[in-house]
Amino acid sequence: IVADKGQHRHYMAKEIHEQPSVIARALGAWISEDRTRIACAAENVDWARAPRLTIVACGTAYYAAHVAKVWMERVARIPVEIEIASEFRYREPPLPDRGVTMVVSQSGETADTLAALRYAQSRGQITLGLVNVTTSTIAREADVILPIHAGPEIGVASTKAFTAMVFCLSALAVLIARKRGEIGLDEEHGYVELLSTVPRLMSETIALEPQFEALAHDIARSSDTLFLGRGLMYPLALEGALKLKEITYIHAEGYAAGEIKHGPIALVDELTPIIALAPFDGLFDKLASNLREVMGRKGRVALIGDAEASRDLAEEVWRRVEMPAVDPLIAPYIYAVAVQFIAYHAAVAKGTDVDQPRNLAKSVTVE
Ligand code: AGP
Repeated sequence: IVADKGQHRHYMAKEIHEQPSVIARALGAWISEDRTRIACAAENVDWARAPRLTIVACGTAYYAAHVAKVWMERVARIPVEIEIASEFRYREPPLPDRGVTMVVSQSGETADTLAALRYAQSRGQITLGLVNVTTSTIAREADVILPIHAGPEIGVASTKAFTAMVFCLSALAVLIARKRGEIGLDEEHGYVELLSTVPRLMSETIALEPQFEALAHDIARSSDTLFLGRGLMYPLALEGALKLKEITYIHAEGYAAGEIKHGPIALVDELTPIIALAPFDGLFDKLASNLREVMGRKGRVALIGDAEASRDLAEEVWRRVEMPAVDPLIAPYIYAVAVQFIAYHAAVAKGTDVDQPRNLAKSVTVE
């Protein structure tokens, strides 16, 4: 497939806009013909007896794994460990009998992730490779290949591969839940219907681009930015900070909002924008109290949240973008779009090389 930018200025912009169709394609590939069940090559793994799932990845793929950990633990009730590939094998971690190790990689060529796969195989694990490039080394070497169907991703900053990974991992969580007897067919159907709403919700979020662009212009003037979130929004805060660093060279940190009082709150001043990822979920009240602590110290909070969240905090915050209200489990998809647009438009405002940022390569084949 030959990739081109279409009517977009950068590949990254095109890849952000493509996400609803990428997710629709992944959905088509990961569900049964009657659209009631998850269907993929991981069906034959003995999930009922697997004591644990270990997921190993780097960078954005690692943050996708972080989202997956929450889904897997909540929906499938399987213990999940997530590991950064460059650290994993050097610790020589013990891996349980009948354990399953999954590596996640857009390129399928990341040296540390490939080495992690080989380590897991040397320890008798069943291995799964969740990849975009199905002709890659990881795809060749893993016991089971799970394709994410994102299509070629050219921008160094990963966007559509991230959401496609999260999507396939969510679907896998549902399949594992069924295999472990945690959910029945009706509940599985319910999850399939929930996942089927993702493309439309992502399109609604993409329509908010001008608001993210306006916010990004303010972010572009800062030299430090904090991203805060809780629960499923914590990995999104990490992903938002990574995207911003990668393409704008602005120093950014992602934090679990409840953790900032243990140190990072010392960074808060009137110059450091704080981007709060705030769906109105079970953790919202806790997040709101963390944000009030920050605002009490002159912190400027940009609230990315739905109408309910905005109702509570609208008067107090510095900037606000109102997001669609969604089931908290699928919030990562639309908040991913938000942080991608903020990073993208901040980079465009700064005039950096969006698709080919300095010092970075699309695929990291050195350790
Ligand atoms: C993401 O924006 C980065 N460019 C980077 O963190 C990337 O996700 C990482 O290098 C892993 O790549 P992979 O998915 O191809 O293994």
